[in-house]
Amino acid sequence: MNTYNTFTFSTVPNIVCETGAAQKLGTLLRQQFPDVKKALLVTDRGFLGTGLIDAPRASLTAAGIQVQTYSDVLADPPEHIVLQAADSARQYGADIVIGFGGGSSMDVAKLISILAGGDQPLSSMYGIGNVQGQRLPLVQIPTTAGTGSEVTPISIVTTGETTKMGVVSPKLYADLAILDASLTVGLPPKVTAATGIDAMVHAIEAYTTRHKKNALSDMLAREALRLLSRNLVVACEDGSNLEARQAMLLGAMLAGQAFSNAPVAAVHALAYPIGGIFHVPHGLSNALVLPHVLRFNAGHAAASYAELADIVAPGAQGSDEARSQSLINAVEELAKRVGIETTLREVGITEADLDRLADDAMLQTRLLVNNPRELQRADARAIYAAAL
Ligand SMILES: NC(=O)c1ccc[n+]([C@@H]2O[C@H](COP(=O)([O-])OP(=O)(O)OC[C@H]3O[C@@H](n4cnc5c(N)ncnc54)[C@H](O)[C@@H]3O)[C@@H](O)[C@H]2O)c1
Ligand SMILES: [Fe+2]
Repeated sequence: MNTYNTFTFSTVPNIVCETGAAQKLGTLLRQQFPDVKKALLVTDRGFLGTGLIDAPRASLTAAGIQVQTYSDVLADPPEHIVLQAADSARQYGADIVIGFGGGSSMDVAKLISILAGGDQPLSSMYGIGNVQGQRLPLVQIPTTAGTGSEVTPISIVTTGETTKMGVVSPKLYADLAILDASLTVGLPPKVTAATGIDAMVHAIEAYTTRHKKNALSDMLAREALRLLSRNLVVACEDGSNLEARQAMLLGAMLAGQAFSNAPVAAVHALAYPIGGIFHVPHGLSNALVLPHVLRFNAGHAAASYAELADIVAPGAQGSDEARSQSLINAVEELAKRVGIETTLREVGITEADLDRLADDAMLQTRLLVNNPRELQRADARAIYAAAL
């Protein structure tokens, strides 16, 4: 795993990382898209209620850009919301789409930009590389420091009742991402914690991915983990600390760049059914299975985990195996310190649910193939049992 294969690396071409940048959204848009006239802001009621979207919206109007706001995004967005949002973009005649919120809003914005820009049905887009046609210009402004969706070519949709499916296509890379910590100061500590751990998982899984590990993603994942592990507790304990918040946003974005090119694996595969069936937020679902998947993988990824331990648990001593254990201890400790749930029982899951979870996890073949250790259904069930 230490020799790199040939690789390709893609990311979003323009990134503004500046506290306060959203206040001048109108100017930023005018610079990059001189001709746009009608912007659709895509967000959810929770973020809309913070009032933090008002000043950026006013700056668009001041720059001569009309604005409509779609604020009906739901967490873990169901397919019907994506279709409804795309309809409203078409009816309005939007010529630019701005995702403004957490991963849910940004993922919906990506699909709106494709659906409103062409006539391919959503049902034919799921999977890797199935998006055709053009999209509308797309800008992403994260308000959680977690998913990295502002720089990923991925959109996650809840299809049917409970299944989470991904649309993965280079066409989903935005034209511009804006990272502004002042938008995240009101994020409650538990959401800060869970989304921050999601970002850490992106970095860890990118670093140990089976097929596409590459030098750029490795570098990004290490720096992401450094920023995230040093700032998560501060951001949870003092939400108004702008420096820690900006560091978290940057860390989450770097992790997003890493895993866009070195994809995530079993932690996410096992987290998705927890989110899909029990409506546990994405970051928390990941946090609940993280130490148990790391333990399962440790024998196959000890050298990489040891390298990450040097970042997350500096001072860890001994063999690769011993330092891997230090990494696992450190992530468990972090989850306890930030006060999120640490067992499946605490989110309402019982022994009787484990078979269904294991069955659903095995459907996530897109992710499971990336895991450093092959994982069978019995392994998935055992990991859920350990997490119970
Ligand atoms: N596209 C990708 O690459 C990618 C990667 C990982 C996860 N995801 C997806 O992203 C979604 C999860 O995104 P998320 O974890 O960012 O959560 P989210 O977007 O679902 O938001 C979670 C909650 O936080 C609130 N919120 C957001 N920003 C806030 C702020 N600044 N202040 C106060 N409240 C705020 C929202 O209103 C919502 O209630 C899932 O659907 C997941 O599958 C996508
Ligand atoms: Fe994630």
